[in-house]
Amino acid sequence: MLAGDLDGVDGVMRLAFGTIRELPDPAAAFGDADLARTRFRAAPECAWTAELDGEVVGSVFAARWGSFGFLGPLSVRPDLWGRGIGSRLLAPVLAAFARWEVRQAGLFTFAGSLTHLGLYQKHAFWPGALTVLTVKAVEHGGETSYARYSDELDGTGALHEIRALTDLVFPGLDLSREILAAATLGLGDSILLRRDGALEGFAVCHVGAGTEAGGDACYVKFAAARPGEGASERFERLLDACEAFARTAGVARLTAGASAGRHDAYRRMLARGFRAERIGVSMWLRPEEPCLEAAGDYVVNDLR
Ligand SMILES: CC(C)(COP(=O)(O)OP(=O)(O)OC[C@H]1O[C@@H](n2cnc3c(N)ncnc32)[C@H](O)[C@@H]1OP(=O)(O)O)[C@@H](O)C(=O)NCCC(=O)NCCS
Repeated sequence: MLAGDLDGVDGVMRLAFGTIRELPDPAAAFGDADLARTRFRAAPECAWTAELDGEVVGSVFAARWGSFGFLGPLSVRPDLWGRGIGSRLLAPVLAAFARWEVRQAGLFTFAGSLTHLGLYQKHAFWPGALTVLTVKAVEHGGETSYARYSDELDGTGALHEIRALTDLVFPGLDLSREILAAATLGLGDSILLRRDGALEGFAVCHVGAGTEAGGDACYVKFAAARPGEGASERFERLLDACEAFARTAGVARLTAGASAGRHDAYRRMLARGFRAERIGVSMWLRPEEPCLEAAGDYVVNDLR
């Protein structure tokens, strides 16, 4: 993908998703949220297009989070569906996952679509747990103290601390690129929750129109509490911090993807008022390997 492809990529993506979701105006899919430009600017070498007669007719994005990779959104112009373009777009992504030597790779798709399950199963991705895309109204409340990545005096030190934490969740997991993209591309920021100097949890959040969140929203793109004894309490404090961050940003909605496979984390999110907006399913390459939605993890993310 090249920067000059982005208008075409964005238009096809909205049309494809709007069509499959049967929206009255398909081009209005994703509203004022942006998934194409944000992801391209964060990782231009992790995006590919399909062209027909020099025109963009499809695209796919991937993310490289250290030892973990995921792909999406994948989209093809609706008048060209069923001709093998989607499958061909998956080829460079699968080659990249092999080149990057990821331990695990995944994606998020429509849970009720046999077409989607079939497409991905053909490429060796197998269904995992339901992923529930949730939203919560941002409430007024007590202040929670947390640091912001962009305020850290030593950004490299903070990235190192975060990597040490994510390594406990999933060996080799590295969110550095997402953290840097949020801070440097004006997409949002990352929250660091510390106690007695130790990092207890962190969250990468996008805020507002033109980001993955969309207007009047804060989207928790990834959050993790340090595993081990007391993780559930750390997770609760981390969710408090995300809500406080959203409140400070002046947005009304906090959105987050919850894997139903992370049982206690999911239950706790529902208990504090996160409500399902949409449901999808995660799918995994090499599902026999330990994956990023283990039952005991206190992690928030979706692979949309
Ligand atoms: C999903 C999508 C990218 C697939 O692209 P595509 O170019 O149509 O995919 P392909 O032609 O490679 O088809 C892949 C498989 O899907 C199945 N399929 C595709 N269109 C189908 C249809 N209309 N009915 C039934 N099965 C269909 C086929 O089994 C095909 O496998 P085959 O090669 O063995 O026949 C495209 O439909 C799209 O853009 N959808 C909207 C956005 C979206 O849903 N993205 C994926 C979200 S995770």
